Amino acid sequence: MPDPAADWRSDPAPAWERPLIGEHPIPGYRYTARDFFEREFAHVWAKTWLLLGRESELPQPGDWQMEEVGPESILMVRQSDLSIKAFYNVCQHRGNRLVLEEQGRVRRFVCKYHGWAYLPDGKLDFAQDAEDFPQGNPCDSVRLKEIQCATFAGFIWVNMDPEAGSLQSYLGPIWDDWSMYPLGDMQRYLAYTVHVPCNWKVIQDNFNESYHLRSVHPGTNFTIEEGYRETQFDMCAEAHSRMIMHAGYPARSLEGEQLNKPLTDLMLEWDLQPEDFRGREREIRPALQQQKRKLGPARGYTHYEDLRDEQLTDYYHYTIFPNFAVSITADGFHFLRSRPHPTDPEQCIFDNWFYAAEPAGDSSPVMTPAGMKPRGEPVPHEILQYGEKSIGMGMDQDLSITTGQQLGFRSRGYEGVYLSGQEARVRRYHEVIDEYLQGVRPHGRLNTRPSTVKAIQDPS
Ligand code: FES
Ligand SMILES: [Fe+2]
Repeated sequence: MPDPAADWRSDPAPAWERPLIGEHPIPGYRYTARDFFEREFAHVWAKTWLLLGRESELPQPGDWQMEEVGPESILMVRQSDLSIKAFYNVCQHRGNRLVLEEQGRVRRFVCKYHGWAYLPDGKLDFAQDAEDFPQGNPCDSVRLKEIQCATFAGFIWVNMDPEAGSLQSYLGPIWDDWSMYPLGDMQRYLAYTVHVPCNWKVIQDNFNESYHLRSVHPGTNFTIEEGYRETQFDMCAEAHSRMIMHAGYPARSLEGEQLNKPLTDLMLEWDLQPEDFRGREREIRPALQQQKRKLGPARGYTHYEDLRDEQLTDYYHYTIFPNFAVSITADGFHFLRSRPHPTDPEQCIFDNWFYAAEPAGDSSPVMTPAGMKPRGEPVPHEILQYGEKSIGMGMDQDLSITTGQQLGFRSRGYEGVYLSGQEARVRRYHEVIDEYLQGVRPHGRLNTRPSTVKAIQDPS
């Protein structure tokens, strides 16, 4: 008879190692200067693993997806052996973009300029007047320029650096954490891409701290413990971070007050009566965990068996260097990604997507950060300008601070950050950016001392 107390699932997630962080300054020019922006692209974006595509978008050989990263455009193509290759989206004849659409299916990619045609594996298959090339028939030597590509958690990751190590070593402890969830089987129910007038790091900084919750997101405390003392903050040597926020009960600051939606809806969904917990608010979270453990598998949520109790209620929020943030729960994940504008340091592209678990036999609507969506219906990918329409209350609130902050970074009156302890991940991110800019990789650094890399100085 196994001892239930010995069940690892009742334990909280072990803490990660915590690199020491120095007094790294973060002045405004990092968000405004073109020189800094261009150096970042060359030394950070072109050297790191980037989460770019989704495997399920390319089910069959010849299916392709195109995504942009700053000035680059990357083609991801399903091969005849079902592997995926990634290429720069550029014709090797005279540099035309091969495709301008988001995705499609081809037998050959045909360039619209002079008609050169490439096979899905990148080989040039046809060139007009092939005999008229003094250097020889281009089909004998020309290929699309391939870049490193790997798959994990249902996503396609690329790295423009031919010398880069493996994706698994890049992700460090993220690999094991994410392997616990069926992330690759989850389906997209929200797909907003927004052009925002701020540097890409404004978005990323915001997802690297929860200090703003009380001021920017009032009401979060109805169902999440937002106090920093009860939140687990983790960083790893690979430069990524994790924040575990207890959820499934109101924050301590609301003890004794009436319970609110969406917590009461969640309780009813799992057969708990809110009135039974009057004055016992701290007991709601463990009760929800027990109910989900007991009832989940019969409702199709078989993956609950592989998760810790706390994962059944809590938010595991990750930031992956350089540009991906995600809040993962047992039932779905909120995909938050910023990408640089092709040329302007004061603009970026923000993806606000949501994926939900698909329990067998469940036809109930899906709760997303932008309201309920019918289950099983694909959502369109909407590309918007900032302010054009709501993309869900939480993200509307987050984006509402970005334009004012970007303007403030231009002010002579701003001398750089004055950070709290719970914002340490912001400083760590900028420290790692400066390490990359100076050719240092975070993996090699001892965690017993802060980085010795100096902050990049304002060139002006
Ligand atoms: S640029 Fe593509 S065929 Fe000429
Ligand atoms: Fe926020």
